[in-house]
Amino acid sequence: MAQSAAKFVSSAWQKGIFDGKVVFCTGGSGDICSAQVRALVYLGANACIVGRNKSKAESVARDIAAVRPGAKVLGLGDADVREAKVLEDAARACVDELGSIDFAIAGAAGNFLAPFLQLSPNAFRTIVDIDLIGAFNTAKATAPYLIRSSAASKGASGRIIFISSTTQYTGRHLVTHGASAKAGIDALSAQLAIELGPRGITSNVIAPGPIAGTEGTRSLLDAGKAQEVSKHIPRGRLGSLKDMSNAAVYLFSDAGDFVNGTILVVDGGAWRTGGGS
Ligand code: HXC
Repeated sequence: MAQSAAKFVSSAWQKGIFDGKVVFCTGGSGDICSAQVRALVYLGANACIVGRNKSKAESVARDIAAVRPGAKVLGLGDADVREAKVLEDAARACVDELGSIDFAIAGAAGNFLAPFLQLSPNAFRTIVDIDLIGAFNTAKATAPYLIRSSAASKGASGRIIFISSTTQYTGRHLVTHGASAKAGIDALSAQLAIELGPRGITSNVIAPGPIAGTEGTRSLLDAGKAQEVSKHIPRGRLGSLKDMSNAAVYLFSDAGDFVNGTILVVDGGAWRTGGGS
């Protein structure tokens, strides 16, 4: 494997495993989701990434497309996941342009640190709207296409992943809003696993711990605290974007076919020691 690819995806995966597949990803310009989409595209998929900032979505899409000759990556900006209609239009544009939606990633998230006593109702609602309602809107907009692609395909298709966190398992200071929203996302995924499983869909959550090089970890951890946090992570390090990609590749691959309604915590064991983020 070329050196550059080794940085973002494990050599355990074979190129071409996602040939002909299309992934639709909200929050696709963000650190974690763009890394996941990059790996899927490298392994054969085409993609549509949806983000709030138009120029960022377009530039991340161009950057991802460069990982594989012939890759098609659509960058749809000005798209707020809080608006159901916006995501319906984005999903339709994805299918018009790329032919299907085989995989969906619901990854848009907002966050800031705030003490409960200073958290306004609107601030709480804003994060629940972006994270939980955004995840719901992503699932609603893509489900008909996922069902269709699962029915039409012999291989892996019709899968959705939600990006959650581990804060809702342990509790954490200053993220009442984010942890509450992420707990809702875990429940949303479990419901879809049950209701849509018989329609050929699998629904799972990736719950990241502290991941180096992400906006979330930068905002949640004080600068310089990473080394201290690593001491409380059984694997002795922060997670990497490659860890995030590998989890998504696994769940979308043939190897993940019977995995449905689960939460894949990717945190080096941190939440079990209270060292999660
Ligand atoms: C307190 C704040 C605040 C802050 C906004 N608000 N920032 N309150 N501290 N730092 C309040 C505002 O005062 C307002 O309430 C309400 O939230 C809505 O603010 P807006 O600015 O109108 O919202 P909007 O522009 O829609 O979005 C703001 C934002 C967004 C949610 C903060 O800019 C954002 O998410 N930026 C960071 C993106 C990010 O870090 N993504 C990675 C997520 S990591 P009032 O009452 O004044 O009207 C992740 C991991 C989570 O998800 C793990 C832990 C759960």
